[in-house]
Amino acid sequence: MSGRLRTDQLHIGYGRRSIVEDLSLRIPDGQITALVGANGSGKSTILKALARILKPASGQVLLDGKSIQRQSTREVAKQLAILPQNPSAPDGLTVEELVAFGRYPHQRGMGTLTGEDRKAVDWALQVTGTADFRDRPVDQLSGGQRQRAWIAMALAQDTEILLLDEPTTFLDIAHQLEVLQLLLRLNREEGRTIVMVVHDLNHAAQYADHVVAIRQGRAVRQGTPEEVVTEDMLRAVFGVEAVIVTDPRLGLPVCMPYALAQAGRKEAAPHKDGRIVYDQSVG
Ligand SMILES: Nc1ncnc2c1ncn2[C@@H]1O[C@H](COP(=O)(O)OP(=O)(O)OP(=O)(O)O)[C@@H](O)[C@H]1O
Ligand SMILES: [Mg+2]
Repeated sequence: MSGRLRTDQLHIGYGRRSIVEDLSLRIPDGQITALVGANGSGKSTILKALARILKPASGQVLLDGKSIQRQSTREVAKQLAILPQNPSAPDGLTVEELVAFGRYPHQRGMGTLTGEDRKAVDWALQVTGTADFRDRPVDQLSGGQRQRAWIAMALAQDTEILLLDEPTTFLDIAHQLEVLQLLLRLNREEGRTIVMVVHDLNHAAQYADHVVAIRQGRAVRQGTPEEVVTEDMLRAVFGVEAVIVTDPRLGLPVCMPYALAQAGRKEAAPHKDGRIVYDQSVG
């Protein structure tokens, strides 16, 4: 498997605080990679470094064998798009204007959209289900509508590599599936490389080809969903006890977490009717 995008002994910190340490990661081309890990483990930090938004303290991010820091913003933006975790749009900006921003790396002059730009914007609005509110200000949308508008902007950029930080947050269950199916389609039909941060391990198992588990800024497990989504990983990375079963339809792991793993906090005990409950008197 080749990897256009990879990191080489990456160290990233905020001020003097080190967050990511010695990370050498290869993003497999034409596959869907899921980054999983606890809150604060460094997933967004890693994604921002991959997109050249954050400058590493040492080590490098390589795109096509060349340090991303030595490539221009426009050069990088033609190859990869990022959906940040908490994007914010200027007051009053409409959905269509936001999505059109995705076309900036392809534009020559300021703000004039070509026919091709228009086509890309319309397509992105269509596939994310945001065309109906294209004229509305982004700041007046619901959380889920806004999230889809931002996804549309990243798609309009029309890049081979897509980095998405929690693309399904704020979305109801149907829209979560819609976005994941869309990403799957872009990957399977057009061969796009996708890296997504997800908290739902069952989504990671079902939609990703490659799963990377991050703990304290380090990639502690990497491999197929079957290799990574395991009871051992849940304990080591999340401090959670879980049962892993196999989805009979897809043959993929499904995890059912039932208790915190750390002794001395809250202990889980089987409930009398067979369910597991927390003993609130402990810890
Ligand atoms: N701009 C910043 N300045 C200082 N510290 C930061 C900054 N951004 C993130 N951090 C810290 O870096 C660590 C990693 O943050 P990061 O956002 O990468 O975590 P994450 O894995 O994406 O978490 P989550 O699942 O909550 O989104 C955290 O301890 C966080 O507080
Ligand atoms: Mg994050």
